[in-house]
Amino acid sequence: MINQLPNSVTNPSWWQLIKWIADPIGFQQKYSQKYGDIFSVNLSVIGSFVIIGHPQAIQEIFIQDSKFDIGRGNQLAKPHLGQNSLMLMDGSRHRRERKLLMPPFHEEKLQTYAQQICSITKQIVSQWQISQPFLARSAMQKVSLEVILLIVFGLSEGERYQQLKLLLPSWLDMIDSPLRSSMVFLPFLQQDWGRWTPWGQMKHRRRCIHQLLQAEIAEKRTKKDKNQSDVLSLMMAARDENGQAMTDEEIKDELLTILFTGHETTATMLAWALYELHRNSDVLEKLLQELYKLGENPNPMEISRLPYLTAVCQETLRMYPVIPIIFPRITKSSINIAGYQFEPETTLMPSIYLVHYREDLYPHPYQFKPERFLERQYSPSEYFPFGGGSRRCLGYALALLEMKLVLATVLSNYQLALVKNRPIRMQRRGLTLTPNGGVPMVITGKR
Ligand code: HEM
Repeated sequence: MINQLPNSVTNPSWWQLIKWIADPIGFQQKYSQKYGDIFSVNLSVIGSFVIIGHPQAIQEIFIQDSKFDIGRGNQLAKPHLGQNSLMLMDGSRHRRERKLLMPPFHEEKLQTYAQQICSITKQIVSQWQISQPFLARSAMQKVSLEVILLIVFGLSEGERYQQLKLLLPSWLDMIDSPLRSSMVFLPFLQQDWGRWTPWGQMKHRRRCIHQLLQAEIAEKRTKKDKNQSDVLSLMMAARDENGQAMTDEEIKDELLTILFTGHETTATMLAWALYELHRNSDVLEKLLQELYKLGENPNPMEISRLPYLTAVCQETLRMYPVIPIIFPRITKSSINIAGYQFEPETTLMPSIYLVHYREDLYPHPYQFKPERFLERQYSPSEYFPFGGGSRRCLGYALALLEMKLVLATVLSNYQLALVKNRPIRMQRRGLTLTPNGGVPMVITGKR
């Protein structure tokens, strides 16, 4: 059966693929203007996809999420995260694993980490020197890495953690530009000819991370402390319906998934928030006023409930979707979405970017206006920085809490400025988008 896809982009598929890798935002802007908010692309070796920027269609997808294979659409992540990653699972295995990993990320449980998130931030920013330039994204990555290590392993200190803190960013930095990200998308570049080739080096670093994780698992096993509630302890204690424990390979893939998804994304969002706040002095002033009202040493949970701070984070997540398109949804059988009949094996890709920049929902979408989130409520298909349906981001509550506490801690203690007052673009970093150049900033004083 020939699968007729709607509004197909007619450029050669290799051209579409290069554009998609090099400039995913420009790609979506250009073709949505030409073909409308539901259009089909052919990305050569990666396949054909229907990109969807229509809230009604996305609502229909979220409601019928069980009619799609989603893990199968994430195969690009397999060489990095491993075949036992939650992101690659479907059906009952996905449901079971998600249920297992969820408890440490529940809002109530996260409250116990709130004070530690503030302390980690204070400790890292206390090393900043007045007048010394720094990259906001790298600084925020240090914070978010410490936080996720704490949640995944419990205590985060000792030599192994120091090694992990160096290795994880250096592994991920190997795909920090559109050119280097090509390795993720183009199988012919995935050649391991030893450590002097980029792919070989990436695999080597991943192996080193696995060795550290294995050592951590072995040490935890000797401790046998049943009262631990960190992610690793939960995985080690879990048994399936046949009484079987997870294998070490399964545990390591899952640990890597949480470490990867749990710190890159939040660090990027924090860098964007600092960038926008220091380009919009009125917004910064309003936020500082709100923070001052809490007085000295406020309770972290009070900070997390501040309405304007919440709106600042929401607006940052709107404008800078770190994952611009949610996980691909592959139709298991013929399905009707928004009046289109899609055949089995069609891959639908709801675009966060296209929806978050719709003029009809967000007037003047290129303006940073937190107020819009105080003035109206958006439905889960009009605003979905964390995706939706059965795959909604596992760590969304942690990400939001962390964004608020880190921003409040940094802004209450330091005066910062952007090194250059020029626009910064979103740039590809593997499967995510990040600020080009990392947001250079400088500390101008203490508060
Ligand atoms: C601001 C930060 C973050 C953003 C914007 C973000 C965004 C997303 C998005 C868009 C998805 C795909 C959802 C879908 O396809 O419907 C996702 C999935 C996921 N996220 Fe996040 N995320 C963030 C932080 C985190 C954190 C802190 C964790 C820590 C555990 C995390 C763990 C995951 C996992 C494990 C999945 C896969 C869920 C599944 O397959 O069931 N994320 N995230």
